[in-house]
Amino acid sequence: MTPLIIGNWKLNGSIEMIKSILQPIADAGLGENVVVCPPTPYLLPAHDVLKSSKVRLGAQDVSQYAQGAYTGEVSAAMLKDVGCSLTLVGHSERRGYFGENTPLLRKKVEQALEVGLEVVFCVGERLEVREEGNAIAFVLEELQCLRNLPPVIVAYEPVWAIGTGRTATTVEIAEVHCAIKAAMGENVPVLYGGSVKADNAASILAIDGVDGLLIGGASLKAEEFMATVPR
Ligand code: 13P
Repeated sequence: MTPLIIGNWKLNGSIEMIKSILQPIADAGLGENVVVCPPTPYLLPAHDVLKSSKVRLGAQDVSQYAQGAYTGEVSAAMLKDVGCSLTLVGHSERRGYFGENTPLLRKKVEQALEVGLEVVFCVGERLEVREEGNAIAFVLEELQCLRNLPPVIVAYEPVWAIGTGRTATTVEIAEVHCAIKAAMGENVPVLYGGSVKADNAASILAIDGVDGLLIGGASLKAEEFMATVPR
């Protein structure tokens, strides 16, 4: 299977960055296994740049509502309308800073699936949970949110590895990814995220159970992001 490589820009972006980062990515002949998720206001200009390429566009979040009087929200249908084929749901930053919980996240997943967006559902334990030896149980509990829903992509991002320069070890990644597949089905793609850079991407992709990468900081430099894509 071709690995799925997703760049999550988080709260970083500008019209200038759409040109300087996305144009080289659009020009590089990359495939549809590469996805970039800029902030919402840049989806449309990003779509314009990427439409000459196979690289796909994703959103970082989606509303739990379809439409109506919900000031500030962006619906799944709107994301689809401006060219997204995928959305992240349940990133640990959404859970941690914005209090997103299981019932809310389930509604978001349902909204996205309803309009035909692929969902990348993010899970991952905090450091104290890993140190207590409960990482796998914690992640499997987070996945309960998806019970009886159509299949989605799962991203395992240990919170302690995000933006810290510290990646999980090969054994830690393999254990969690294999546990996720055992619980969700062997065909469910499972991505790894957390301090993935150009120089560790290939070795992480080689780990048993890793079907792709979710990349934060390193997706903000065109050359570095493209170097994470196997070719
Ligand atoms: P970093 O690659 O910056 O650690 O971020 C990972 C992440 O949270 C991607 O969603």
